[in-house]
Amino acid sequence: MTTNAPSSISFTATTPSNIALLKYWGKRDPSLQWPANDSISMTLNVCKTITTARRSLNNFDSFTMDGLTINSNSHKTHKIFRQLDRVRASLNVHGCLELFSENSFPSSCGIASSASGFSALTLASAAALLGTANWEELDTLGASRGVLAHVSRMGSGSAGRSIYGGYVKWTAGTSPEQQEIDQLWTDEHWKLSDIIVVVSSEAKATSSSDAHKAAWGSPLFGPRLSGVNEKAKILEDALARKDLELLGREIETEALELHAICMTGTPPVTYLTEKTSAFLSWLRSQRQRGMINAWATIDAGPNLHLLCRPEDAASVCKNIQKEWPDMRCIMDETGPGPSLISTQRSVKNV
Ligand code: PMV
Repeated sequence: MTTNAPSSISFTATTPSNIALLKYWGKRDPSLQWPANDSISMTLNVCKTITTARRSLNNFDSFTMDGLTINSNSHKTHKIFRQLDRVRASLNVHGCLELFSENSFPSSCGIASSASGFSALTLASAAALLGTANWEELDTLGASRGVLAHVSRMGSGSAGRSIYGGYVKWTAGTSPEQQEIDQLWTDEHWKLSDIIVVVSSEAKATSSSDAHKAAWGSPLFGPRLSGVNEKAKILEDALARKDLELLGREIETEALELHAICMTGTPPVTYLTEKTSAFLSWLRSQRQRGMINAWATIDAGPNLHLLCRPEDAASVCKNIQKEWPDMRCIMDETGPGPSLISTQRSVKNV
């Protein structure tokens, strides 16, 4: 199939990041992005990637971000162009694209952008290649949310979960082909605030791909895999019942389990900094004293995500800023998931 959208029509996907409550950690098959365990996440609303795609009149793809343009002639094996090839292959379509991307959050602030980035790239390019921004039409043309989630996951595992809003589960299944990514609840089920505490905005020294590999060498990884399905049940129960205290306890323990595995892996990987630990100790003592009702989770980096009730978010943030004036807080919340629009440019501007 060849594409039928004229190059004067642009397709813009706005896709949020997500925060894992139960972490995806370790890959059983890296080439097929088959995770070691199920994961559960909350889709965010503020930290997003906005990617616009349109058909190119050239016979190569191009990608522009932060004023820098690369193209598939000179960067053939770049992860962006490999992802475009996956989109075309999965939809059985041809055609080159011009892509423009930006994040709603500064790229240097230490917040991972691969989840929002790869899902926005996948969604915008599928829409441009198939010539529609209508979800039902995409579905009919072979680009259902399920397909888009799986193609996104091939770019970056956690990106698959950003194709849905609210609360999302990625089930590993018993073979790579049996993986599933499904929405558990929409954002309307339970709105939570996520205060992202930026401890450091430096790029991480070890990529998550390397750390996924190192996890298999940790003596703690086997016990984690034995208990992870039980954890998923508890988390799903806490989400179903909107029990923040139970959810909070579970996500904090889960994050520390992930970091214990990182630190005991082969080779060991340390993402937590002294500041992260000091902040976590402070948060816990504040909670014990009844001063703060927020619980932390931490992905593969030093920054923390604090989950709390929306009505408590402003006071939690005020407390943080009083005690930690040099730490930046980004206020986020449970979000409805990606959006997709098409825009017709006037011929003069083409
Ligand atoms: O998507 P990746 O390969 O960058 O792995 C991300 C893993 C965590 O963010 C730590 C957990 C998760 O489930 O998102």
